[in-house]
Amino acid sequence: MDSDIKMKALDIVIFGGSGDLSLRKLMPALYFLYGRGEIDEGCRILGLSRGKLDRDAFRAQVLEKLKLYLGADYNAAQAEAFAGLLDYRDLDISDNRSWDKLKAYLDPAGARAVIYYMAVPPTLFAPVCEQLGHNGLNWDSSRLVVEKPLGEDTDSAARVGEILSSVFQEGQIYRIDHYLGKEAVQNILAFRFEDGRVETIWNRDHIENIQITVAETVGVEGRAAFLDRAGILRDMIQNHLMQILCFIAMDRPKSLTADDVRDQKVRIVQSLRPITAQNIQDHVVRAQYGSGVAVSGYQQEIEGMDIAGNGEVFIAVRVYVDNDRWRDVPFYLRTGKKLSKRFARVVVQFKAGEAISRVIFNTDMTIQIEEETISGVVQNKRIPDAYEKLLGDVIAGDQSYFVRHDEIIASWKWIDGIRKAWDAAPLEMYEYAAGSMGPNASDDLLAIAGHKWFEE
Ligand code: BG6
Repeated sequence: MDSDIKMKALDIVIFGGSGDLSLRKLMPALYFLYGRGEIDEGCRILGLSRGKLDRDAFRAQVLEKLKLYLGADYNAAQAEAFAGLLDYRDLDISDNRSWDKLKAYLDPAGARAVIYYMAVPPTLFAPVCEQLGHNGLNWDSSRLVVEKPLGEDTDSAARVGEILSSVFQEGQIYRIDHYLGKEAVQNILAFRFEDGRVETIWNRDHIENIQITVAETVGVEGRAAFLDRAGILRDMIQNHLMQILCFIAMDRPKSLTADDVRDQKVRIVQSLRPITAQNIQDHVVRAQYGSGVAVSGYQQEIEGMDIAGNGEVFIAVRVYVDNDRWRDVPFYLRTGKKLSKRFARVVVQFKAGEAISRVIFNTDMTIQIEEETISGVVQNKRIPDAYEKLLGDVIAGDQSYFVRHDEIIASWKWIDGIRKAWDAAPLEMYEYAAGSMGPNASDDLLAIAGHKWFEE
């Protein structure tokens, strides 16, 4: 199938083509891929949305947003040429005539390869997917790209999985976790496996603890209803922090083929020690921000909205990977909104007396060993956005950095365990000052094991 898609002319069909994800992330990514020749002149990019727009109006809209989002990277001539690939159709998902028109637009014989991108709300994944199947648009050379949230617990994720797999083969489904497209995250694997010496010290004999932090300064913005319901456990830990944990903890795959890499990741997720009603009190800290200097607290922000207010917007978790390499080494995961600074960082803390004291992976792509930066950022180089990397991989037919169904299910099972545990053994909802690094209880979570969050 891989060679198939490369030989065929390509259509990229974006459901939700005029929506925010498409204009903000996908179009810039496609623009850069086109600039690098990874998308050729024969490619057609079709935006589908409910609104009635003609092709020229859609092109103008895309150009305007490219200019806005790309800033200095915007090149008018390249953008104009790119816009020449764009087309638009309005689509009413439940109207057969819309699908007939799409079918007529796409090559009915499946002679062109098609990538379908679901840039629509998750409630539309199933209906769109079913229509693709029903209308026979799921040719072997087609691919489907979907993005979180893929369910909100094990059962709903399994249902989404069933619908997708009733229409497409696993090898055609690309589940995006945009953290896997971040160069800084991909660098973890390169660092670990490119130099054989790293592997000899990457284990419980040498490593004291591992800290994974994704800190954001934004609050809940316009997403309060979703975030309150999901909580940051489901919004960030189940996917993004879990993926980082897997890259840090996984064994070396037999090869770098997609399934070998993903087999190793699933094994890590399946080895996570369950968090239960018995151990949750000293394994999980959850919290909401209170008001700070000139900022309102979480509860004030959602006042007057029809929102329960029970969602955590900060969480810190102590987790163990129960395998020979990592047994009893704590992995501390921490993420939250309205924290003091926006950054993502992994700190691998070595035991006292080791030659290396710490390895730190930073968002800006530096990797520090002890205090010395050995792999600096090339300052003038544009770091490709996660979507650009991932869309390039979809076009190339490489699933290594996409999440497989069994991985999603394993991770939801572990997350469901935590939610069940905190329902059974009520867990305090702490408050932290907006603009801080979370509640004191988050420091205590480490202190009980003699550890401390690494702060610059
Ligand atoms: C999203 C979450 O998946 O990731 C958001 O839904 C979060 O709540 C975002 O803000 C963070 O992504 P990034 O790339 O800005 O770190």
